[in-house]
Order: sequence, then structure tokens, then C-alpha cells
Amino acid sequence: MNEEIIQIKGLTKRYGYGDTESFALKDFDLTIRRGEFIMIMGPSGCGKTTLLNIIGLLDRATSGEYILNGEDVAGISSRRKARLRAKKIGFIFQNYNLIQDLSVLENVALPLVYINRPRTVRLKNASDTLRRFHLQEREYYLPSQLSGGQQQRVAIARAIVSDPEIILADEPTGNLDSRASIAVMEELKSIHEEGNTIIMVTHNPALTVYATRVINMLDGQINTDIKTVADQNLPQKIEVKRTRGKAKRTRKSNKGRKN
Ligand SMILES: Nc1ncnc2c1ncn2[C@@H]1O[C@H](COP(=O)(O)OP(=O)(O)OP(=O)(O)O)[C@@H](O)[C@H]1O
Ligand SMILES: [Mg+2]
Repeated sequence: MNEEIIQIKGLTKRYGYGDTESFALKDFDLTIRRGEFIMIMGPSGCGKTTLLNIIGLLDRATSGEYILNGEDVAGISSRRKARLRAKKIGFIFQNYNLIQDLSVLENVALPLVYINRPRTVRLKNASDTLRRFHLQEREYYLPSQLSGGQQQRVAIARAIVSDPEIILADEPTGNLDSRASIAVMEELKSIHEEGNTIIMVTHNPALTVYATRVINMLDGQINTDIKTVADQNLPQKIEVKRTRGKAKRTRKSNKGRKN
């Protein structure tokens, strides 16, 4: 069975003190296995983005425990945290967050800077990833020259270019029409089928058909947590091995694997 890659225990995020004290997360517990596709729903302000930002090492909890790949996040330096984030985690945002004066290709290549890939390798890997999303003929466009759906698919390419195993998506279809939303969801589906773990926030209940687990939050806590795919049926991780810049995908058993 796929291992637990995220273990969160008693996590609390507090803002303010005394009269202004409020809790974005309250004594929050969550265990996530590799290969889960989790959708997080719940009313505005219930703590969804806060949770995603803490999981993605962009923010830290006030108290509680967060173990990522067997490692207690509290104990690691901010430098190592940044490296861990670059290697293990891909982010997708509602408003795409592309850099407007960089080309599509340079945007997708950007995460590889943080894991010290040489420029030629960066551009090659970015180009290969864009091909997968059928966007290679737009490599030299600027983001503003693309539709919203295309920009979000570029953002997905950027999120997976370094082959992270955890993809965090905060309302990735929030700005898209239903056709573009489906295109984005189909891309996320294929990334998930390669054994990657996806945690996505959405307000759209129709999208939960893509999930293996749906978590409803309320006031910084889990209200309901429903698995629609049993743990033993989650996809196995496909290792992407790059030989001379070519991506080669092989399915690998997780048995006995340590990270
Ligand atoms: N920097 C901050 N200072 C004070 N309170 C904050 C801060 N950031 C978030 N909060 C509060 O934490 C709570 C959770 O916010 P969060 O952004 O996680 O909600 P959300 O579930 O993502 O909402 P939405 O669906 O609107 O995006 C909210 O009550 C919010 O006001
Ligand atoms: Mg939010």
C-alpha cells in the first residue's frame, strides 16, 4: 500500500491575540497517502488556503506537528525548506501566477533554477513538458497572449516540470469556463494517474468526481472526510527518468521504498 507522505497532528494556526484572536486552523489532524487526489471544500474563510500554504511550506503553523515524507518540518532550516519545496511540491493558483514578461517556456523552466539545473537542461525539460500539454507551439508567447485555460495549463506544466510528488492547487478552475475547467481537470487526472499526490481546493462540487477523497472543512476543522477510492487501489508512482533530456516513464512499486 502507498505510504503516508503527509502526517499532520494537532495543527493550529492562530491570528492575533486577546480580543482579536482567531483561528484559521484548530487542532487539525490529517494523514495523506501517496497517490491520493484530495479535494478540499468548505465556505470562504474556513481555512482551506491556510492549510494548503502550510502543507506547501509557504506558511507555518502556530503549533502542532507536520511530518512531510517522514521528516518533521519544524526541525528544518528555511534554506532546506526552500529546497524541499522546489523538489517535492508544485503549486497551481487560481490566477495562474505566471510572470508576465517571461515567455511561456521561461515560465515553465523557472522551478528548475531552484534545483540547480543548467540552462540548456531547463529549457529542454520545459519544452518537453509543454509538448505534453500540447502547448509547445506557444513556447515563445507571453502569458498575456494566451487564453485563461491555456495560461492555467502553462501553470500546470510549471508545477510539474521538476517532477514533484505533491501538487497543491488552490481553486485552479476558479477563473475558467466549464470547457477550460475540464481541460485542466483532465491534465490533473493524468498527473494523478502517474501516482502523484494532488491536494486541490475547489468550490465546485461537480469536480469531486476526479477525487479519491473529499474533505469538507468548517471553521478551521474537518467537517466530513469521505474516501471514494480505497487506499490499496491508489495509483502507484511512475518514476520519470530523464536520459539525455528525454523523459522516460516507468512504473515502480512503492514496496520497501524509502524517501
Ligand atoms: N494574514 C492574516 N491575518 C489575519 N487573519 C488571516 C490572515 N490570513 C488568513 N486569515 C484568516 O484565516 C481564516 C482562513 O483564511 P483562508 O484564506 O485559509 O480561508 P479559505 O478557506 O481559503 O477561504 P476562501 O474560500 O475565501 O479562499 C479567515 O478567517 C481569514 O480571515
Ligand atoms: Mg482560499
